[in-house]
Amino acid sequence: MSVIENSKLTVVGAGAVGSSVAYAALIRGSARHVALYDIAAEKTEAEVLDLAHGAQFTGSSDIVGGADISVAAGSHVVVITAGAKQKPGQTRIELAGVNAGILKSMMPRLLDVAPDATYVIVTNPCDVLTVLAQEATGLPYERIFASGTVLDTSRLRWKLAQRAGVSIASVHAYIVGEHGDTEFPLWSHATIGTVPILDWEPLDGQPKFSVDELDQIAVDVRDSAYKVIQGKGATNYAIGLSSARIVEAVLNDEHAVMPVSTVLDGFHGVSGVALSVPSVVSRTGAAPIRTTAFSPSELGLFRRSADALRDVAASLH
Ligand code: 2OP
Repeated sequence: MSVIENSKLTVVGAGAVGSSVAYAALIRGSARHVALYDIAAEKTEAEVLDLAHGAQFTGSSDIVGGADISVAAGSHVVVITAGAKQKPGQTRIELAGVNAGILKSMMPRLLDVAPDATYVIVTNPCDVLTVLAQEATGLPYERIFASGTVLDTSRLRWKLAQRAGVSIASVHAYIVGEHGDTEFPLWSHATIGTVPILDWEPLDGQPKFSVDELDQIAVDVRDSAYKVIQGKGATNYAIGLSSARIVEAVLNDEHAVMPVSTVLDGFHGVSGVALSVPSVVSRTGAAPIRTTAFSPSELGLFRRSADALRDVAASLH
């Protein structure tokens, strides 16, 4: 294990998501130095000031930033949140065209100033943009990945924990596939402690989970972002926290298992698209765990996710 001294995180994009990533990273002490970069100079400087004004309460991290890309110099991790966001009712995929253009022009310039960084793509559709960003930079697959379904997995665990009556840390379950409308839970591996989810007896005397209830939970998780966006125009806090957690796994060389999205190379027969699967996240980036078993129906859903994203990627070329 080689924890990085004087670690530096740059967050690209000072909108609701980028600012929340920086805020979460400062509060959690995810990196020693945090930089915020966005072409909107006045807004970025204001966000940096607002964050810096709380420095007394956030430990030893410091925050700088601005509209000059050189603020990203020397980063160990770069989290990319820049781009258009979903409007109420809009899908993540509908952002592909406009955000692909932004990423394609920005990635080579970022790589110039932060050549050694690990890159985490949060901008949506994050899976499609990860393939594009990998192609634009030529980085090894491990070093450029999307936050993917880390957030959806947290949403799932929260719901299961509430219903099961246990701590969220005792729920072992993953959402995999697209961070979007074709995502799905790996129910074949879901346990509370060591008990398979369908066998769990909730502590409050409520009935066990049924297959229909699990199906409904999967739909609710898939549609959670739509609900939040409808109500407040964006999702930002939970993605901020998820991203900060991913950054820590890299900077602390944790070898933590997380469902991030890398460009796949023969994972259950899928290559050339980025999809979330349980992966080991460490200083070298993210490596899919190739021995993760999928049931036959999960394999079908996974290939459906891959096909959907392949079609979107093809439409961008
Ligand atoms: C989310 O899932 C919109 O991708 C964003 O919160």
